[in-house]
Amino acid sequence: MNILITGGCGFVGTNLSLYLKSKKFSVYTLDNLSRKGSKFNYTVLKKKKIKNFKINIANYKKLKGLRKFDLIIDCCAEAAVEVSRKKIDEVFNTNLVGTFNILKKAKRDKSKIIFLSSSRVNSIKNINKIIGNNSNLKKKLHISKLIDDKFENSRPKSLYGFTKLASEMLIEEFNYAFGLKYIINRCGVIAGPLQFGKQDQGFVSLWVISHIMKKKLSYIGYGGHGNQVRDVLHIDDLCELIHKQIKIINKIYNKLYTVGGSKTSYTSLKNLTKICQNITGNKILIDKKKSTSIYDIPYFVTDNRKVSRAYKWRPKKNINKIVYDITSWINNNKNLIQKYF
Ligand SMILES: NC(=O)c1ccc[n+]([C@@H]2O[C@H](COP(=O)([O-])OP(=O)(O)OC[C@H]3O[C@@H](n4cnc5c(N)ncnc54)[C@H](O)[C@@H]3O)[C@@H](O)[C@H]2O)c1
Repeated sequence: MNILITGGCGFVGTNLSLYLKSKKFSVYTLDNLSRKGSKFNYTVLKKKKIKNFKINIANYKKLKGLRKFDLIIDCCAEAAVEVSRKKIDEVFNTNLVGTFNILKKAKRDKSKIIFLSSSRVNSIKNINKIIGNNSNLKKKLHISKLIDDKFENSRPKSLYGFTKLASEMLIEEFNYAFGLKYIINRCGVIAGPLQFGKQDQGFVSLWVISHIMKKKLSYIGYGGHGNQVRDVLHIDDLCELIHKQIKIINKIYNKLYTVGGSKTSYTSLKNLTKICQNITGNKILIDKKKSTSIYDIPYFVTDNRKVSRAYKWRPKKNINKIVYDITSWINNNKNLIQKYF
């Protein structure tokens, strides 16, 4: 099977390319290398003889000229929620026009699609309501609601979230109109090696690298106590799931799943700090910023039941293992990685 992974030199794309190549698939990537860190990942892929097409996904003329693929895994996005408020053209072109172009290419070549969507399609207001009065989270949060694909996704959800939801809807329309076969994985936070994290995207790797390189961090929002909670999925668990999905894609298709670390792997920022201290052996200064962005949310934990039933899959690697694996990756590539953070 020939597979094209768009955004293939990004965090998810690179890990997935290496994983699927190791399972003997014929893997190609498409990436314009715009993301900080993608050039590093590109060198990793090159060593494994994975070819990258350096094309802007918004450029259909160039995309159309590529060979035919049996499957396109769309991992290409401007994936930072905050950036979507600042670079509105970029987020719209990459995330929405990009999906449209991939769909046109898939229609033409009769390729199947696996789309990486985001938990950010959900309504910010309704997520806020789960925690109630959340401006000052003084106490540790307990896992309350698990969020599935029935959760309210009315506005506001951020411009990033909008482009992901609109992409999901476009895919469903292409299915209805042209019989395109798809799987949508609506993912919560994903983390692991080869991620060049920032505060609003990839906070786990940012936390680890800041501990290793002794850089200052901040608890931002909800009183600055670090009690906000997210589930975090190890990238290896996601790769294993997508491999299972590919193997039986002729049996199970046209489905949308919520996918995350769920109860196996979740953390507050405060707890993440403790884990980073234990694993790296370093303690750094973390200051408090009481308020946060209008796009921030205090809590997200995924309901995996639907995807677990369909594929007999569940996440196996918890947050400690994630921090451990990121630490090993950084320590093994310290000099090369340093310049990207
Ligand atoms: N990482 C997460 O926690 C997470 C969570 C939920 C969903 N997702 C989704 O998973 C996918 C992969 O995310 P990621 O974390 O690997 O992001 P990433 O930023 O690491 O990777 C995206 C890649 O796309 C490339 N790219 C950006 N604009 C492009 C363009 N116009 N043309 C061609 N290439 C372009 C970048 O260079 C980068 O290598 C995205 O669709 C994202 O929305 C990620």
